[in-house]
Order: sequence, then structure tokens, then C-alpha cells
Amino acid sequence: MIGLFDSGYGGLTVLKPVLEKLPQYDYIYLGDNARTPYGTRTPETIKRYSEQAVEYLFDRGCRLIIIACNTVSALALRHLQQKYLRDKNIADKKILGVIRPLAEYATTNTNTKRISVVGTRGTIASNAYEIELKKLDPDINVFSKACPLLVSLIEEHWHHKPEAKKILKKYLLPLKSKNSDTLILGCTHYPLMYKDFKRYMGKNVNVLKSGEIIAESLKDYLNRHPEIEKLITQGGTREYVTTDSADSFKKFGNEELSLSIDTVKTDVIW
Ligand code: DGL
Repeated sequence: MIGLFDSGYGGLTVLKPVLEKLPQYDYIYLGDNARTPYGTRTPETIKRYSEQAVEYLFDRGCRLIIIACNTVSALALRHLQQKYLRDKNIADKKILGVIRPLAEYATTNTNTKRISVVGTRGTIASNAYEIELKKLDPDINVFSKACPLLVSLIEEHWHHKPEAKKILKKYLLPLKSKNSDTLILGCTHYPLMYKDFKRYMGKNVNVLKSGEIIAESLKDYLNRHPEIEKLITQGGTREYVTTDSADSFKKFGNEELSLSIDTVKTDVIW
């Protein structure tokens, strides 16, 4: 089984293309909606919350966990890998994040080597994208902007309202003068406002489709690691778990992402 974890609904923008590209596997999606947003919390809190999520997913039988949350990937991925895999010398389980594949795609697809990144306050303050992008290509110029209000607006279904679009426009204004040719949506919630990002950034900026890039990189990873791939069960099942309201989760997944979700379970992971 493959587990996908996010602070809330955001990771569903990753799950959707993953299910389209790799439908054969069994999946469990865990959204910690009761404690979202993560982006404004301290690294210590994020480590604690994500440990609970990882333990839950491993206990449920996952062999591969995708941390489909940029904030957790930025602030806790290394900690989680160390704690659950390296310290115990475990080779038949994996935990992967989302920053590396997006940084790889961005560096290989920029012409001007000027890349903008948007994300939660935690992700941007960590400099995780800048560090990863510069590791891949030291000549890249990175321009970052935290957009802390967007996650709450999206979780509240407010992202279609003019007020949300106004806030987005204000956030993007300082990036518009940077002449970047690529924008990384460094938060899994943001693709739900993809069209608005595109409109405000203009036609010269390639706004990356994060979910699709991550799904493609997962496919490639499983091809390159047959020893992990063969551990993942292939029953085509999907399970949805939230730490908060099952009804709200189902409504969001079906209305915003057309996921055809039948059942959502509410579980306590702490
Ligand atoms: N969706 C998550 C991310 O990609 C975190 C959003 C939040 O809970 O603040 O960063």
C-alpha cells in the first residue's frame, strides 16, 4: 500500500494525478484536517504531528509514504527518514517528499535560470526550495514569497471568491517584477487556484503543475526501484482518512477534485 499524507485537503492535488498514472496500487490518503494549517506552526510541532501520521500509515501497512505536503517535506522529511528508516536500518520501507522532484523539474526546464517559489510561511522560511534548487544548479536565481492566508481560504472553500483572488494578486505582485520564467507552487493547496496563478503571473511564466510532476517522478522512482515496487500491493483500492469531519472531506474531494470518493473514515492519530 502507498500512503499519502497532507495537513488537509491539499495532498489530494497530488493524489489525483498519482491515481491517474499509477491506478494499479492500493492507496490510503491521510489528511490531518483537525490541525491544519501546518504552515504557520513551529518545526518542532510539525515534526511531532508528522511522526504521528507516519506511524499511523506504517501501522496501516504502507510500505511507501509520500509526504504530499511541502511544509512537512521542508521541515521534517530528513527527521522522519532518520527516525523511522535509517536509525533502525530499515530497507523495505520508504518515505519520500515533494521538494526534490519539483526542484529537479524546475532546474531542467528553466531558460532564464530565474525561478519563483510560493509556499507557506514555514516552507519559505526554511529556504528548502532555494537550497535544493541551488544544489542542482548554483547559477539559479530564486525569488520566494510566502502566501500564508491561501491555505485557510482553500480549506474553507473560499478560493473561488473575489476576496481570495484579490489576496493572491497582492501576494504575487512582488514576484511579477523578477522576470522569472518558472513559478513553483510550493504548497499542495495552491493548484486549486492554478488558473488564478497563471492569470496573474502572465503568459511568460510557466506555472508548474506540481501534482503531475510529482506523479511522474513517483512512476520513475518505482521503475528504478523494483525492490520497493514489488512490496506494494496491487488491488486498486483507495482509502480516505481524515482527523476531522468525514462529510466535509468527502464533499471537498468530490466537488473540487472530482475524485468519486464513497467513504471517508475519521480517525485519531495522536
Ligand atoms: N499543503 C501543505 C503544503 O504543501 C501545508 C498547508 C498548511 O497546512 O499550511 O505546504
